[in-house]
Amino acid sequence: MSQRQYKRHDRSDIFIHWFNAVCWFLLLVTGLGLFGNPEIDPLGSGYPAFMRSLVGGGGNLLIIHVTLGLIWAGGLLLYMLINFKGAVFFLKEIFMVDPARDITWMIRKMILMTAGPKLLGKNSELPDQGYYNMGQKAFAQASVVGGVVIVVTGIIMFLSDQTLGAEHMALVSWSITLHYLAVGLVFAGLLVHIYMAAISPEEKPGFRSMFTGHVPEDYAKHHHKLWYERVKDNPSSEV
Ligand code: HEM
Repeated sequence: MSQRQYKRHDRSDIFIHWFNAVCWFLLLVTGLGLFGNPEIDPLGSGYPAFMRSLVGGGGNLLIIHVTLGLIWAGGLLLYMLINFKGAVFFLKEIFMVDPARDITWMIRKMILMTAGPKLLGKNSELPDQGYYNMGQKAFAQASVVGGVVIVVTGIIMFLSDQTLGAEHMALVSWSITLHYLAVGLVFAGLLVHIYMAAISPEEKPGFRSMFTGHVPEDYAKHHHKLWYERVKDNPSSEV
């Protein structure tokens, strides 16, 4: 018998998620080509040289990277204005943490995924989670805070080429450092995010929901019990 389906994402949420993912990919591909110092270049100096030759020089690559960054930030801003309710719902869900329940979930989940249930004994049960579990919240918090840092520092770095003078040297140097750190932090989370969302077999219904918008009742009940309790009589409402 086919199960009841519960609405998890509407079309604008799905669109903005994949828009964000495509922008991240293109920004990484172009950004890694901008490294000018081979000693700190993670891919070796061959990659920047290849990217620069592809687009006719470093100046063009920088223009492409900055334009992509502005399209990315502008798209996210537009989404927040058009779907204000959805954006507030998302921010509330990811930043509202119940320390006792959520931190316990996080610690037990990490032990279960690495050492297995034996180590936890009677305590291997995971506390119920809401619309997002604590792992999803941690990554989403890092990508929101990291995203803001990346955009603000990117704009300062861009202005440093155009208008900012020598008196702003400290601001520009800090921006470069924070830009790299924020990208590194979000990228590290992204590796776990992609594994959990697209490869881990138990999360397959969640992955499909990023295309269809819906998850089956069993998945909702088992993975997001507190959310399921809220919407169980109204499967067409996410909130
Ligand atoms: C191949 C790339 C990606 C895949 C397969 C993927 C997959 C998914 C899926 C399936 C969900 C829904 C989880 C649920 O509602 O239960 C999700 C949510 C989310 N994704 Fe992605 N995603 C990718 C790239 C990205 C990128 C590049 C970012 C941002 C840097 C991102 C940020 C988020 C955030 C903030 C959420 C909501 C919180 C969460 O579920 O972790 N994703 N993603």
